[in-house]
Amino acid sequence: MLRLVMRRALLISTLLLAASCGRAPAPERLYVTLGADALPAAQALTGAHVALDGTDHDVALIEIDAAQIDALADVMHAQFARCGGFFVHDSLADAEAALHAVPQPHRAADYTLDRAELVTRLLPQLDPARIRNTIAELSAMKNRYYQSQSGAAASTWLAERWRGLSTRSDVTVEQVEQGWAQRSVIMTIPGTTHPDEIVVIGGHLDSIALGGATSTAPGADDDASGIATVTEIARVFLASDVRPARTIQFMGYAAEEVGLRGSQAIAKDYGKRGLDVVGALQLDMTNYRGSEKDIWLMKDFTSAAQNAFLIQLIDTYVGATWGLDACGYGCSDHASWYRAGVPASMPFEARFRDHNKKIHSRNDTLEASDANAAHALKFARLGLAYALELAKP
Ligand code: BES
Ligand code: ZN
Repeated sequence: MLRLVMRRALLISTLLLAASCGRAPAPERLYVTLGADALPAAQALTGAHVALDGTDHDVALIEIDAAQIDALADVMHAQFARCGGFFVHDSLADAEAALHAVPQPHRAADYTLDRAELVTRLLPQLDPARIRNTIAELSAMKNRYYQSQSGAAASTWLAERWRGLSTRSDVTVEQVEQGWAQRSVIMTIPGTTHPDEIVVIGGHLDSIALGGATSTAPGADDDASGIATVTEIARVFLASDVRPARTIQFMGYAAEEVGLRGSQAIAKDYGKRGLDVVGALQLDMTNYRGSEKDIWLMKDFTSAAQNAFLIQLIDTYVGATWGLDACGYGCSDHASWYRAGVPASMPFEARFRDHNKKIHSRNDTLEASDANAAHALKFARLGLAYALELAKP
């Protein structure tokens, strides 16, 4: 496997070299922060010359051509099966800020539980068969790569699906243009009394496997499962007569697999606009029960206070077992919110080391995870309880 990856890397750098001869315009530069342990591999691939030394949290910074980002994503995913983790920035200033980032103080939220009647009325309406069907439909697409036609189509498919969940004119669904074929999708249920306070529940829309835009990448677990879970939460919420006090936004992020780029753009934009995000819940891989407990809360790049709230929700409403673990790097879109100072959480399907090993390949199928979506249902229960208790109808 390693030899395959190295050969592929060699081939890619040769191609890049060939492409850079001649009269090509100056390439667009991108800045990548990544775990210092992954630095040698990234440098071997990209020939990156800037390598700001390690710093406080063993994070390194390299500068690369925008054209190299797909190859870097390939190698990081394949070579670091425990997953390398990297974060793409479009300016050096931004990357340096991330490198030296001291996480901003997170806003405090009221984490009391007092909507038991409502929550217990709505939870039974969650339907695992619908989650399974949504996973089946998403994973039937050739891939949902952020720069492929089918990846773009997946965004439009999701927007249409979400539009079909409500006939209310105040509920909106938009596709956010972010510079790639695939657009992020945001559905908004406006809050009644606190519309300026936003509760975010999201997952990533894109999938990846070696070969990028031409690959077969069903991404059934990573992350059709999360998108299907979010969709089912939204369906039940909208089928009820519930009007949240706070605004709820459901998000399908583009370009997560290539450096959390879709969520990062949204979180940064919200920061710039001064939007107040009360909490963000990330559902990335919910349908493979890999460990002895059901739900694993990642402790890193998340809010301890909000995680404690999730534990209360699990114990009170979900009826699942839980544990604490860590990715060890910013493994999904919760890290984008965390870096923007938003309380974020990442309830995960297994211990990190027990995660579904078929992700990022053509074998990440529904059959290889939970064909009945019974595992994903637990995360839907948690997400719906989170929406009801944090947005407080
Ligand atoms: N769903 C994965 C993250 C993940 C994988 C969490 C395994 C826990 C166990 C996510 O889509 C992903 O692949 N993330 C990248 C990092 C990202 C910054 C490109 C990864 O883990 O390499
Ligand atoms: Zn992934």
